[in-house]
Amino acid sequence: MMEIRERLIVALDVASMGEGLTLAEKLAGSVGYFKVGMELYYSTGPAIVEELQRRGGKIFLDLKLHDIPNTVGKAAAVIARLGVAMFNVHAAGGREMMRAALEMSREAAAKTGVTPPRVIAVTVLTSINQQVLAEEVGIDRTVEEQVVRWALLAKEAGLDGVVASPLEVAAIRRECGPDFLIVTPGVRPTWAAAGDQKRFTTPAEAVRAGASCLVIGRPITAAPDPAAAAEKILAEMEAGLC
Ligand code: C5P
Repeated sequence: MMEIRERLIVALDVASMGEGLTLAEKLAGSVGYFKVGMELYYSTGPAIVEELQRRGGKIFLDLKLHDIPNTVGKAAAVIARLGVAMFNVHAAGGREMMRAALEMSREAAAKTGVTPPRVIAVTVLTSINQQVLAEEVGIDRTVEEQVVRWALLAKEAGLDGVVASPLEVAAIRRECGPDFLIVTPGVRPTWAAAGDQKRFTTPAEAVRAGASCLVIGRPITAAPDPAAAAEKILAEMEAGLC
């Protein structure tokens, strides 16, 4: 079982290098990983990853790759050479695409002499509800059935885990076993504002349902004292283990 701090990922949802580094500095030592998403990465390029890592941070690069296998594989190799701890692809890209991401990132990491990143798959985005899944995407299964189907496909492709809503964690854990990584956004401690998160659970509930790591942004990053907010959340996560 990972140490509790290793299970907290803070979303650095800011648009500049300065803001990202200031936040990371306040949180150094409190959290396992920093999530660098599209906004920050596309604003700063790889420099933000390199700088955070130089200061000892571990990075989950959340760029959600989705393209033909050759293109995704080559992008995955570039990401692996950066030395990130974890990155993601869309399960909707299929088994071959996920395998290409995994194999080409491992190969590139080995050649560069860095630890191979964990590769996880995005299942059904939490912005997609049952109606959108059926009417717009054209999938007739329930959201939960589709999430589990994609999680099993990701596992079969050899990936380390998935990103999923806290509401589907228990079903994925049941089907994919104890070692499969489940990374969960949509988490709100009782004392924080929900913001635009509609389907969320508390840190204790998410851990209890079987989440491996929680992705939390604003309850920490917008708090007057981000490190204190992170410590409070870690205590709630610990409580979920009991
Ligand atoms: O600030 P907040 O805690 O809502 O941030 C959650 C982070 O997780 C954001 O970076 C958001 O983009 C991401 N995320 C999410 N829901 C998903 C997938 C990712 O909230 N389904």
